[in-house]
Amino acid sequence: AIQRTFSIIKPDATKRNLTGEIAAKFEAAGLRIVASKRIQLSLAQAQTFYGVHKERPFFDELCEFMISEPIVVQVLEGEDAIAKNREVMGATNPAEAAEGTIRKEYALSIGENSVHGSDAPETAAEEIAFFFSGLELVG
Ligand code: CMP
Repeated sequence: AIQRTFSIIKPDATKRNLTGEIAAKFEAAGLRIVASKRIQLSLAQAQTFYGVHKERPFFDELCEFMISEPIVVQVLEGEDAIAKNREVMGATNPAEAAEGTIRKEYALSIGENSVHGSDAPETAAEEIAFFFSGLELVG
């Protein structure tokens, strides 16, 4: 089915001018970028967005990293977009990511791993709504 998923191009990637190369990989995989904006997260916004991880030992590091540089938030649309995006991203830990994936090619570490993507339809809907209004999604 046609789905929408939420994607972040993270600080390590925006800092190295990889926004275009990463977006090109999504498009080459058949994902349409139906919304896109470059933003600077506040600490409070990062903590809210990653709230499910607040008990994890890496939570503070994760939030500090996510506010260290601007990020690019996007909504990707296409057939099985959630799974397709996860395939293109590769494993969370770049050491485990398959050849040709974004994280294999660009990620620096498990924390500075260049991209985020929703893991399920419910989280995709929540994450999209956190950053975008309906008017900003142009299919
Ligand atoms: P993301 O998909 O953005 O969702 C949670 C993030 O936590 C994950 O990507 C990783 O970048 C980050 N993360 C997971 N494990 C670690 C870790 N051990 N140290 C630092 N960051 C981590």
